[in-house]
Formats: sequence, structure tokens, C-alpha cells
Amino acid sequence: MISDLWYKNAVVYCLSVESFMDSDGDGVGDFRGLTRRLDYLHGLGVTAVWLMPFQASPGRDDGYDVSDFYSVDPRYGTLGDFVEFTHAAKQRGMRVLIDLVVNHTSDQHPWFQSARSDPQSPYRDWYVWSDRKPKSADQGMVFPGVQKTTWTRDPVAKKYYFHRFYEFQPDLNTSNPHVQAEILRIMGFWIQLGVSGFRMDAVPFVIAEKGPDVTTPKEQFQMLRTFREFLQWRKGDSVILAEANVLPEDDMKYFGVDGDRMQMMFNFHVNQRLFYALASGDARPLAEALKETQSKYDTAQWGIFLRNHDELDLGRLDPKQRQAVFDAFGPDKTMQLYDRGIRRRLAPMLNGDRRRLELAYSLMFTLPGTPVMRYGDEIAMGDDLSLPERYCARTPMQWSSEKQGGFSKADKTFLPVISGGGFGFETVNVAQQRRDPNSFLNWIERIIRMRQELPEIGWGDCVSLPTSDEAVLALRYDWRNNAVVILHNLAAEPKEVGFKVGPTDGEPGRLVDLLAQAHSEADEDGRHRIVLEGYGYRWFRVGGLNYLLDRSDI
Ligand code: NOJ
Repeated sequence: MISDLWYKNAVVYCLSVESFMDSDGDGVGDFRGLTRRLDYLHGLGVTAVWLMPFQASPGRDDGYDVSDFYSVDPRYGTLGDFVEFTHAAKQRGMRVLIDLVVNHTSDQHPWFQSARSDPQSPYRDWYVWSDRKPKSADQGMVFPGVQKTTWTRDPVAKKYYFHRFYEFQPDLNTSNPHVQAEILRIMGFWIQLGVSGFRMDAVPFVIAEKGPDVTTPKEQFQMLRTFREFLQWRKGDSVILAEANVLPEDDMKYFGVDGDRMQMMFNFHVNQRLFYALASGDARPLAEALKETQSKYDTAQWGIFLRNHDELDLGRLDPKQRQAVFDAFGPDKTMQLYDRGIRRRLAPMLNGDRRRLELAYSLMFTLPGTPVMRYGDEIAMGDDLSLPERYCARTPMQWSSEKQGGFSKADKTFLPVISGGGFGFETVNVAQQRRDPNSFLNWIERIIRMRQELPEIGWGDCVSLPTSDEAVLALRYDWRNNAVVILHNLAAEPKEVGFKVGPTDGEPGRLVDLLAQAHSEADEDGRHRIVLEGYGYRWFRVGGLNYLLDRSDI
């Protein structure tokens, strides 16, 4: 297999321009500020930046309600600033992915304004209408508790329009060939401006049939192939990272059985079991989820994440498991959202406990796929639960202990900087953690560096090794005659585990510890016995040196 699929060994960092760095003192982050912080990201080891929506938008869903797909919202800068940014990223060898939000538009988008006001408008059929309120109108809301319906009457059109999300986000009629052509045009535009691909929003809804009579929407999977073909024709190394929270049995429909659809998808199935494992200390459902989502095609890749900008969605756990995660990480109603998830950031969920944070991020960086971090993760930033819905985890980046955490010179920022308490900018910030060799930031930097040197994880085959303890997850990766073994103890107590590595080209009897001096030699039976401290983790190379011999061909 050729090895220039850059996304296989990438470290992705997700941020919103709005919350990262304000260069002009208006209280809102911007492209110029972000560009100045690229060296910071580069130094951290980030190889690809994923930008949340920055196009013109009324901002009622934090930019996921776009009113002009071919623009930069003036609050963040200009198209010129954007191109300077992609160029600066390229100079540092970093890629840029951007959000592609084409399931819906803002209700302020000129297409919708034209469609609603004129039955003859060429944009009328770009949206999904009904004369009467469909029977299914009170079903399928994505934001239950906040969103009341999926069909709302428009007083101008005097018809109902379909919206999978909030009522100000009318769904595009994605079956319409004109809409499909426009989606390609949008991709082509941004590709031309220097991006390497897209995080595609709400993919199952983009490809679903929509209409007043649709009860069980069929997916139009051929659309995914069209997107990919177009992209690869325009720019061969561009990718789509799909947001699709689907069941394992449907994974290959999204990747494509011939690997001809999405290159990447977020692994929501694993994400939920990962949180269950962290909450319960039982690694077995996580090991099972890894097996169920084993990648079946060489170019397909999972995006592995802990928390993202939305709630931690626990909707696909069984009720007992879900309750266990709520009890451990979000017991208060104020911490929960949409009847299915937790809206906190990771560090407060884990009470800022360094051992558990290291365990969680060690897992994120070593589960099969490409790690996707979120801004602020590297300094263990907290949240502000006084903010509504998901905004609690979208506060300004904490750079220093200066005014507004060094994010802005303004007196008021778009959302308040977290101040005071255990997670305020006065104590949790980049500048302070840089000076401290034992800080979380320096730990993350080291772990990213090591992860980059283990292409086996991004590229290789992964199996879980049977251990004698259900709290311990032992994974072995193989790629090009190299093997690594990674252990995690999900329990608070120390565990001694015994396991065999299995056959290798190197010396299976020797495990070289990559993060500490705790190497292991197998006994006469070929069994390793390893003691892991509570919440402990170990990264081993099997055999040691053959790694250096075989890497020359990548
Ligand atoms: C998924 C995004 O992650 C979320 O933030 C947004 O609200 C919806 N899609 C609607 O675009």
C-alpha cells in the first residue's frame, strides 16, 4: 500500500477562529490572530487544523447556519486573510480542513429568502416544502427539549418547510441536482483556496431522502462517491472526514465497500464506549466496539476523539451504561443536554485528575485511527455551565494570565473567558504551562511526538490481546514487520496482567517501553507480566530495534 495518505498518521486539532486569538481587539477571534498562533500549533505537533464554520452567518448555531458559503464572516477577517492563513499553514507543512455544512442553510441565506418569497424562484426547489403540516412533524428532532418540531410554517411562502435541526436552519433539498452541483462548487472553491478537505457536517442527513411523505428516509449513498470523485479530481490528496453517528453495520456504506466514498469518519461508536470504560473501569465493551468497527479497507480511517464542540452523545449506549456515565461525569441536570448527553469539557468531568487525564488522552492517541483534539485540550481547559446549551465548552482559548486570558485586548469578549475557580485563565493557561516542564501541555507535546513516531497505529492492523483482567485494554498493532503493544488500566487500583504478544518477526520476548524505563522480558512460556498503576498506561515496541531498519521505505 502506498504510504502518502497523509491523513493516516495525522494529528488533527479542531478550533473555531472565533475563540482562538483576537488580533484587532474587538473581542472576537480572527484569521490574523490564528495565523500568528500557527507556530504554537506546529510546535505542539499538530499536522492538520480543522476549522469550524467561519463563513458569513447570523450565528444562531455558532456558524452552522451559513448565509454565504463563499465568504469569510467579516468578524473573522477577509478572504485575503483566509488565504494568508492557508499559505502560512502550508509553509509549516500543516494541512487545513474546514467544516462543510451543506445539509441546510441559514433562513437568512438569499437562496431561502428567494425561495420563500417567490413560487417561481429558481431556488424554490432547493428547499423541502409541504402545504400541510406532515404527520412526522414532531419526530426526528436533533435537539430534543430545545427544538419543538422538524416542520415549521413559513408565513411568507404559506407552506411548511423541513428542518432537521433548529427552525432557522431550513434543510436543502439535496436530491435536487442543482443543489448537488452547488455543493461541488462550494468544495471546489475552498479547495482552490488551499484547504486539504472537509469535515462534512451531518452526513446521514445530507444523503437522506427528504419530504413530507418520507417516513423511513433512504440514504442516497452514490452522492458520497460523487463528492469524493470530484474532490480527488480537483486535488488528489484531499479528504472528507464525515460526521456520521451510525451503527457499525452501516460503516462500510459510508466508507464504501470498495473504499470509494468517505476517507474518514468519526468513530462515535467507540467514543461512547470509551467514556463508559472511563466511567466504569470495564474495558470490555470498548474492546468489543473496536472489533465491531474494525476498518475493512486500507484507505478508510477513523477519527478518534474524546470531546468535541457538541455534547458527549451517549444515545447509543444501553440505558444502564448511559446511567453509569451520567453518574460518573455529569450527575447534575445542568451538565446534561438533549436527554442524551453531557455538555462538559473533559478536564472538569475528570475533576482535573492528572492521572485520569493522561489515561484518556493516551487512549485517544493510541486507538486505531487519527486523533482529533480540540483546542484547549492540551492545557486541560474547563467549561462555563452558566452558558446555554453547547456554548459552555466554546469559551476563548486561555493563553496567559493577562487580561482576558491573553485572548483579546477588548473589555468584553464574544463569550466570557473562564475566570476563577480551578479552571480559570489565571491558573490554566498556555504561558504558565510552557514554563513548567511537568505541565499537562508538555506532556501532551511529548505524547504527540511519540504518536507521530508510531505510524503502526495510524496505518497498521489492530488486535486486542486477551489479558487476565477486564479493566485492562491491551492492543497490538502490526505494520510493515513492526509491532507495538499498548496497555491501559481503566481501573483506579493497580493491576498485574499477564499476556502473550504472539508471533512477530522481531523478538516477541522483549517489550521496549517507549515512555519510561520499564521494559519487559517474557518468561520461558513467552508470557509477559506487567504491573500497571491505577489508571496507568504503557506504550511498548515489540522487539525494539527492527523498527529503525524497516522504516526507510515510508
Ligand atoms: C453538527 C454540528 O457538530 C453541530 O454543532 C451543529 O449544530 C449541527 N450539526 C447542525 O449543523
